[in-house]
Amino acid sequence: MAFISLREWVDILESEGELRRVKNKVDWNGEIAGIVSRVYAQRGPALLFENIKDHENTWCQKLLVGGLSKKSRVALTMGMPKNTTQPELVKLLRKRFKEPVPPEILDNGPVKENIIRGDDIDLFQIPVPLWHPLDGGRYINTWCGVVTMDPDTGEHNVGMYRAAISGKSKMGVLLIPAQGWGGHYAKYQRMGKPMPVAMVYGCDLSFGFMAATPLTSINEYEAMGAIRQGPVPLVKCETSDVLVPAIAEIVVEGTISPDPASYEMEGPFGEWTGYYGTAAKRPVVQVDCITHRNDPIYRGNLEGLKTGMVNEDAASAYVTMSAVVWDVLEANSIPGIIDLVAAPWTIVKIRKTYQGQARQIAAALWGSRVAVNFAKTVMVVEEDVDIHSLSSLQLAVQTYVDPIKDVIAFPLQLGSSLDVNLSSEDRNELLYGAGRQNKLLIDATIDWEKHPVREEWGNRRLPPTCTEQLPEIEELVASRWQEYGID
Ligand SMILES: Cc1cc2nc3c(=O)[nH]c(=O)nc-3n(C[C@H](O)[C@H](O)[C@H](O)COP(=O)(O)O)c2cc1C
Repeated sequence: MAFISLREWVDILESEGELRRVKNKVDWNGEIAGIVSRVYAQRGPALLFENIKDHENTWCQKLLVGGLSKKSRVALTMGMPKNTTQPELVKLLRKRFKEPVPPEILDNGPVKENIIRGDDIDLFQIPVPLWHPLDGGRYINTWCGVVTMDPDTGEHNVGMYRAAISGKSKMGVLLIPAQGWGGHYAKYQRMGKPMPVAMVYGCDLSFGFMAATPLTSINEYEAMGAIRQGPVPLVKCETSDVLVPAIAEIVVEGTISPDPASYEMEGPFGEWTGYYGTAAKRPVVQVDCITHRNDPIYRGNLEGLKTGMVNEDAASAYVTMSAVVWDVLEANSIPGIIDLVAAPWTIVKIRKTYQGQARQIAAALWGSRVAVNFAKTVMVVEEDVDIHSLSSLQLAVQTYVDPIKDVIAFPLQLGSSLDVNLSSEDRNELLYGAGRQNKLLIDATIDWEKHPVREEWGNRRLPPTCTEQLPEIEELVASRWQEYGID
């Protein structure tokens, strides 16, 4: 199962009944967002927009949205049947993360079919929707990969970071210093040199979901290779040594000045929190080259969801973030993990083997990269809890949590700067490098101090449960069910 192009993915999605082509003319200015919002609410198909107003004659005319906005499509990305369950996908992803596949570097690739430089560059040729009414521009980076390179080691980072078109050859970005590219940018700033950057749109679907995941044990290109079980073909950018996928639809190359005096207003943008992220003076990408395939397909995704809607990051994070969080716990040798979900709350189900286990889990997550954007609320539960069921989780809190002892606030001062609960000062990523977010642990495991094992309870810590009838009674009722005349 080799690395495949976006257009091959379109064919697969179409043959699986997971894609609709929208051939009627639609407006980028609000209408596309309205359509996507409705389709995300219905958990509907991926949408390929083929006829977009003002883009009848631009070099890019097509937009794919929702390639991953359903669990079935995440499973397809991993080469699995559509009905593969979340725990099975998490297990598979963790196995693949342990078998990195290095990329291969080619001299040329389809992404070089067209090369645009200088005055010919015009980002407005790309059919970028206006995603929310109050967005401070057309947000081009909503499902992409932003590639940068460590100037000392050559190590690459691929992240998904928002960007708005702010001119024909300019983009404003939210560059958070605590994120992968933030580390690279700090090094370029110390050298006083502009940082080369490449924005990649449209690729194998594993590209987007790896870009949006804070990988801890493996590089993004190796992870994509591992998922697809074949090396990612890469080519060098035209204007820097940054390596990008050879089969990408579009690559926008540019640089970010190290000088804060070059920053311009960016934002607001309708964020995953459901609120607009703030506008501020932020770094700017000066675009100096665009390469693209013939008749390229641009990629986008709607952020800022109502409850019950599922977009691309929500569907993929349900699997990818869970795998990453599990790996962090395993790397810290924490035993007894049975199941977990990673976002928006990080909920871990364990077979408890020592008293401080829940606190150790929280400490491990807050001590890892995961804390930069995730794990604001960590909840640890016993093995009898169904972590995929709200009522089961509520019952766990009700039963096991002492509000004085088991709800623990930790002053980490590190987390998402998009957290609207923070004061505007604490959200200022330029002042603090990230959001100054504190963290919460809900330890819903049995407190061994209060509840020693009792012989009279069959060597258990809590009284016997009363939720089951005797097996012989269950059998009797089943055998006489028709006689009762209840159904
Ligand atoms: C649609 C989308 C937009 C995002 N925008 C940003 C952003 O503007 N800045 C940021 O730091 N993280 C953003 N994130 C989160 C990062 O992609 C995520 O934290 C990822 O792990 C970053 O890669 P890194 O760990 O290599 O830094 C976004 C995620 C998604 C799904």
